[in-house]
Amino acid sequence: MDAGRDRIGDLMTQSTSSTSPAAGMDILNTLYSAAFTAQVMRAFVKLRIADHLASGPRTPAGLAEPLDAHQDALAAFLDTCAANGLVTRGKGGEYAVTDRGLLLRSGSAMASHVLYAAGPGVNRAYEQMSEVVLTGRSGGEVAGQHVYDYYGEHPEEAEAFEKVMSETTAECVNALVDVHDFTAYGRIVDVGGGRGTLLSRVLAAAPKAEGVLFDMPHVVDMARSSLPAEVSADVLERIEFTGGSFLESVPSGADLYMVKSILVDWSDEEVTRLLGNLHRVMSPGSRLLIVDWFAQDGATASRTAGYEAIASFGSRTLWGGRLRPLAEFEALLTATGFTIDQITTGFAPCLFPWNLIVAHR
Ligand SMILES: C[S@@+](CC[C@H](N)C(=O)[O-])C[C@H]1O[C@@H](n2cnc3c(N)ncnc32)[C@H](O)[C@@H]1O
Repeated sequence: MDAGRDRIGDLMTQSTSSTSPAAGMDILNTLYSAAFTAQVMRAFVKLRIADHLASGPRTPAGLAEPLDAHQDALAAFLDTCAANGLVTRGKGGEYAVTDRGLLLRSGSAMASHVLYAAGPGVNRAYEQMSEVVLTGRSGGEVAGQHVYDYYGEHPEEAEAFEKVMSETTAECVNALVDVHDFTAYGRIVDVGGGRGTLLSRVLAAAPKAEGVLFDMPHVVDMARSSLPAEVSADVLERIEFTGGSFLESVPSGADLYMVKSILVDWSDEEVTRLLGNLHRVMSPGSRLLIVDWFAQDGATASRTAGYEAIASFGSRTLWGGRLRPLAEFEALLTATGFTIDQITTGFAPCLFPWNLIVAHR
């Protein structure tokens, strides 16, 4: 027994002498701050704390009433929010929202990011990361339902995700309209078009064109309700809303098909199925326009390489996709019978530059 105790003592001495306490603390800080802070932000958004404090500071007692909250728990939560820079605590115990906290007001772009990135839909996929590594399947599927199907049953999270996409898309649409002339098209289908941000901007630039917003039925319903407040009547009346799955079929009869930020979400097999569905309904004169991120090849890996690795494996974990280098897009398109007409890399410089491929069948 004494020998056993000695062995344990030896192991402890070895582990403390060979492990830097600072490195251990760094792991603990990263672990606990990442897991906890995201949920602090989510609760801050869900409880609409920034909205409640926008008109002036309040004590926990003053804020507990409109929130119908447990006062002690709320006070402790507000201290945690203060530690995260979302509020400050005054000398009289009242809490005021900071500029950082105000970014998380209801309906803001940042609030959507929080509800999406810290939401159960994403987390249930991330929890399966080790299985993703072992099996190559998406985390959502391992958890029992692909994340896009999960969103079909969780409208609040679906809305947050689609808002995040729409914000991101809004950053690049003007640059896209500058590099590609849309005026010659008569009928444009946006495949997986989300809330219609890309399609409505393109239709504004192509006044004679009609558009079809094609996405999953719950997303199309969302766009049908949100777009009237966001676009002109002229653009709105040229949009047809069509729900369905692009893995089964896509609407026929258009002379332009747009596929933005879609292929990154899917495996080669599913991308091939989608491209095949497009090829089947496209006429020889019609065009396919792909906007996506490209993975850098090793030789040109830039300072974004760390983000690139995270985005690529993040996509695999969530949806089953990945970032691809240009050569792989070319191979997938050629294999499904497309001919590439135009490649414009980096037309909109965001964290990841947006790239454009135009092809025909
Ligand atoms: C990453 S978002 C891109 C949205 C939009 N194209 C943009 O760039 O803002 C992917 C879109 O594909 C849609 N989607 C996913 N699976 C789909 C399917 N099987 N059929 C149709 N749309 C689908 C999602 O609902 C979502 O709106």
